[in-house]
Amino acid sequence: MPETNWDFNETGVFDWIERELKPEPCTSEEFVYNEMESQSGYSLPVIYQPFDAGNKWHWSDRGMLFDFLYSTDGEGKKLLDFGPGDGWPSLIVAPFAREVIGVDSSEKRVKVCTENARRLGIRNASFVSYKSGSSLPFEDNTFDGIMAASSIEQTPDPRKTLKELFRVLKPGGRIRIFYEALSDYKGGYERDIWIVGMGNRTCKLVLFNRDPDNEYALQYGLTIAMPGRELTERLSDGGEVSFEKVSVSFLEEIKGIITRAQVLKTIHPSAKTWISWLKETGFKEILPAYSGGMAAVKLFDLYTDDNRPSDLDSTDEAIKKVVRIVTGLEAPVSLDPMITAVK
Ligand SMILES: C[S@@+](CC[C@H](N)C(=O)[O-])C[C@H]1O[C@@H](n2cnc3c(N)ncnc32)[C@H](O)[C@@H]1O
Repeated sequence: MPETNWDFNETGVFDWIERELKPEPCTSEEFVYNEMESQSGYSLPVIYQPFDAGNKWHWSDRGMLFDFLYSTDGEGKKLLDFGPGDGWPSLIVAPFAREVIGVDSSEKRVKVCTENARRLGIRNASFVSYKSGSSLPFEDNTFDGIMAASSIEQTPDPRKTLKELFRVLKPGGRIRIFYEALSDYKGGYERDIWIVGMGNRTCKLVLFNRDPDNEYALQYGLTIAMPGRELTERLSDGGEVSFEKVSVSFLEEIKGIITRAQVLKTIHPSAKTWISWLKETGFKEILPAYSGGMAAVKLFDLYTDDNRPSDLDSTDEAIKKVVRIVTGLEAPVSLDPMITAVK
């Protein structure tokens, strides 16, 4: 079970939850991923939305596809997608790889990914589940490359997870890691709120207490017998839900309809920490590099609406070239960029 440390708790709200609700420590799939019908809110281009060449974020998505593909040297190869969520990036990378296997500790996510692959007619992507914290269900040296998007930091022990990923990667194989560091939250964004709908009558209020200096976050999940829409209205400030609206008196008022309280601790390494952990695991040629997603967005802005590629194939052709360049360019560690490493 994750250990908790309440030292940086300033608001009283977290103290109240601790004292009054005694939240149960849990893993991330127990906290949220087992419950969500779509982890991405059905927002993913190609997987859920038709590709739109006029949408900058769809370009970013294609940029990320080629980032993972080129950084892992994965064209025509066998790749692992660690923690695929709704099938990202596995399902968009699959058409360019020989085979993609997604492994996730949430059975729900595996079910969703498998159904998405079936719906999209993708035959070379498959998904398996395993118990969080245990060994990955693969032999040593199985994969030519590994893609990990916002997932290693969701595991109970990211350092141990890196060791497992190293084990299942072939010698000479590459891992590409996209992760959420906490540096962006410094200076007022440490506390946060998120409401997850869980059907018509119940929702989950998620309250974040992030500690960027110590590279971890605590999330409190309160299951509340109230429709998500109603809770959203109660906690909105100018149209958006706001952490400041959550007070001890509000929690006192709804205490009787809080049916469950959970707490999740996640560790969020900075680039500097990732690099030292990758080294100690045995990885070499560790490269913090610019991301293909960011490059694709910049490229989008260089075009006008009249001269921008207008379909998926021509967009991909334009994006591929810049992604090949930027994913090989070292980025400053202070930016917490994506990281590539070789076994
Ligand atoms: C933030 S989501 C990212 C999903 C997807 N890669 C994306 O970027 O859209 C984190 C994913 O990691 C998975 N996950 C959490 N703990 C895990 C573990 N111990 N092993 C494998 N996957 C895990 C979750 O179930 C979820 O699918």
